[in-house]
Amino acid sequence: MTQLQFPQRSKLLRREFIFGVATSSFQIEGAADSREPSIWDTFCAEPGRIKDGSNGLVACEHVQHWRDDLALIKSLGVDAYRFSIAWGRVIRADGSINHAGLQFYVDLVDELQRLGIQSHVTLYHWDLPQYLEDRGGWLNRDTAFRFAEYAEVIGRALGNKVSSYATLNEPFCSAYLSYEAGIHAPGHKNRQQGRQAAHHLLLAHGLALPILRQHAPAAQHGIVLNFSPCHPASDSAEDRKAAATAHAYHNLWYLQPLLQRSYPDLLHELAAHEQPQIEPGDMDIIAQPLDFLGVNYYTRTVFRAKNNWFSDVPPQASATKPLTCMGWEVYPHGLTEILVELKRTFANLPPIYITENGAAFPDHIVNGAINDQARIDYYQSHLLAVHDCIEAGVTINGYFAWSLLDNFEWAEGYTKRFGIVYVDFDSQERILKASARALQQFWLARKAKQPVVEAI
Ligand code: FCB
Repeated sequence: MTQLQFPQRSKLLRREFIFGVATSSFQIEGAADSREPSIWDTFCAEPGRIKDGSNGLVACEHVQHWRDDLALIKSLGVDAYRFSIAWGRVIRADGSINHAGLQFYVDLVDELQRLGIQSHVTLYHWDLPQYLEDRGGWLNRDTAFRFAEYAEVIGRALGNKVSSYATLNEPFCSAYLSYEAGIHAPGHKNRQQGRQAAHHLLLAHGLALPILRQHAPAAQHGIVLNFSPCHPASDSAEDRKAAATAHAYHNLWYLQPLLQRSYPDLLHELAAHEQPQIEPGDMDIIAQPLDFLGVNYYTRTVFRAKNNWFSDVPPQASATKPLTCMGWEVYPHGLTEILVELKRTFANLPPIYITENGAAFPDHIVNGAINDQARIDYYQSHLLAVHDCIEAGVTINGYFAWSLLDNFEWAEGYTKRFGIVYVDFDSQERILKASARALQQFWLARKAKQPVVEAI
C-alpha cells in the first residue's frame, strides 16, 4: 500500500496539528422532509441547472446513518470532523425553532465528543432556507440579521462543546457564483447583485461572530474562504493586469474587509450602479477579530484580458499533467504561493486551518476495491505544500480532507466523486478507497506515536 511520506521534523507529524475530514449538510444529509426547503432544492427542481438532473433529497442519507458515519470517521483516526448545519433544519419559516432538527446536531456533537473527535461547525454552507430567498435572500439586508438570530440558537445549543465555529463557507460562491455567474442557487446573473450579496454575507458574518463568541467563549471563531492564485495567461501588461484584477475580485474582496475594514480599490472602478450599498458602520461590524481563517484550496486559475476586465483560461490536460474530473489542474504549489502572498499582504493574518482540500477523480470498483492512486498523490503533494507553507512562516494549525464521502457536488450533481470513502448511492454502502486507507494509516500511526510514517 502507498504510504504518505513527510519530512522528519514536519509540524504535520506533531500531535497538536489537527487532522480531520469535512462534509456539508446539503451535500450529505438527505431527509429533506424533516427540514424547510432550501434554495438548492428549488434550484435542483429547475430543468438544466444540475448536470445529472439530480437533487439533495436523499444524498448520502446521513441523517439516517449518522451514527455509522461517525464510527467510520472514528476508524480513520482523525482528530476532528468539520460539518455544516442546515439553517432550515433548525429555524422554521415562521421563525420558531425546529427542536427535533436542532437535537440532531446536539446529538451529533455529543457523540463526537464521546468518540474523542473535535467538532468544527460551519453555520452556512450555501443552503439558505427558501423562505428567506422568497424575501430577497442575500440581496435583502434583513437576511444578515436573521443569520445572527440563527447563530444565537446554535451558540446556545452547542456552546463550548464545539472546537471551532465558522460563520460562512466560501462567500465567494454564495455571492459570485450564485448571484453574478448564475451557476449556483439561486442562479442570478447580475454584477450589482453579486456585490450586494457579498456585502450582506460579510455583514451576516460580522453580526453573528460576537454572538457565537458570547455563547461559546472557549471555542475558536472564524470564517472559511476559498483562495486560488490568479496567474496571467501571458506576460503582456494586459494579461498581468487581468490576473491582478481577478485576484482582487475573487480573493481579496472577501478577506480585506475582514482584516482591513475595506474593499479592494477595485470597488471604486466599478460603475456606480454596480457597487453594493454599504451603510455607515458596516465595515466595523464586518471586521470582527478572528481566531482562525479557514482556507479552502483546490487549484490555481489563469486569466487573460478581455474588455478591460478578466476572463479565465481553462487548463488543458496533457499526458504528464492530467486534470481532475472537475477539469482542474493539480497545482499543489499554488497553496504555498497564495498563503505566503496573503501573509505578506496582511500582517494580521490569523492562524489558518486548511478547511478543504481534495480532488474528484474517476473511481472504479475492481473486486470491491477502489484504487484511487491519483487521489493519494493529490493528498501527498498538497500536504507537502502545507508543510512548505509552515516552513515559510505561515501559521497553519490543521488540515481537513474534502471530503469524507462522495456526495452531491452542487451543479455537477453526483457525477463528481470527492470522497475518500466511496458511496454506492443505491445501497448507501460506504467503501474506504485506497486514499482513505493511506490517510488512515498515517493518522493512526501519528496517534500511536509510531514511526510507521516513513520520513523523506
Ligand atoms: C468547495 C465547496 C465544497 C465542495 C468542494 C469541491 O467549493 O465548499 O462544498 O463542493 O468545493
